[in-house]
Amino acid sequence: LSPQDLTGKKVLVCFGPTHEYFDVARYWSNPSTGLMGACLAIAAWLRGAEVHVVHGPCSFYFPQSIIITSITSAKQMYEAMITKYQAFDIICMAAAVADFSPIPFALSDEKFKRDITGLSVPNIEFTANPDILAKLGTLKTANQKLIGFCAETRDLELHAKEKLVRKNCDLMVANYIGHCDSGFNSSTNDVAVIDKYGRYEKWPVLPKTEVAWRILDWTTHV
Ligand code: C5P
Repeated sequence: LSPQDLTGKKVLVCFGPTHEYFDVARYWSNPSTGLMGACLAIAAWLRGAEVHVVHGPCSFYFPQSIIITSITSAKQMYEAMITKYQAFDIICMAAAVADFSPIPFALSDEKFKRDITGLSVPNIEFTANPDILAKLGTLKTANQKLIGFCAETRDLELHAKEKLVRKNCDLMVANYIGHCDSGFNSSTNDVAVIDKYGRYEKWPVLPKTEVAWRILDWTTHV
């Protein structure tokens, strides 16, 4: 039986990639599928929470009582999260937000055309996007729990600790990317968690469903 230990709690989960269009046909993004965040949303719902999700482009079907806001770009994700966060007890920021966006061409309703030589390339410049998690870290109240994620290729514990503090999170979940059984496009994850009390645990490779369940277990005691 599901423990129903999140009954009466409101949980907001943000996940998926963002798409940063630079003309009508092309965007800058990353390989996130959103699965880790979707597992968190379902786990919280099974445990009795009222669940809202804000997600970038990905395809999941959720139970009808999960409230969905779907967005495309990092800027829209930022606006959705800032508008919603205040009403929630637990906020999970599992999205793979594009840190920078290509600046669209002047005629953004058109497609960049190759010239007749086929050798012309667009000259793309980038603009930085706000860090949504860091912003939420400055806004959250003492009663709100903020959970961040980070994807690292090495020094997992070191980076997780630095980001936990810098982004003022209660819990940071760090996962390896570049391993076949972890991170983007994998149904399992190889994570370590660190909380604001300095408690650190490295977990074995686990299905993302199980990682989600354990994250929520941990959240009840940070
Ligand atoms: O600094 P780094 O990108 O590794 O931090 C990852 C964490 O910060 C994740 O929780 C991610 O969702 C969040 N993030 C964000 N806004 C950004 C970049 C990352 O909220 N622009």
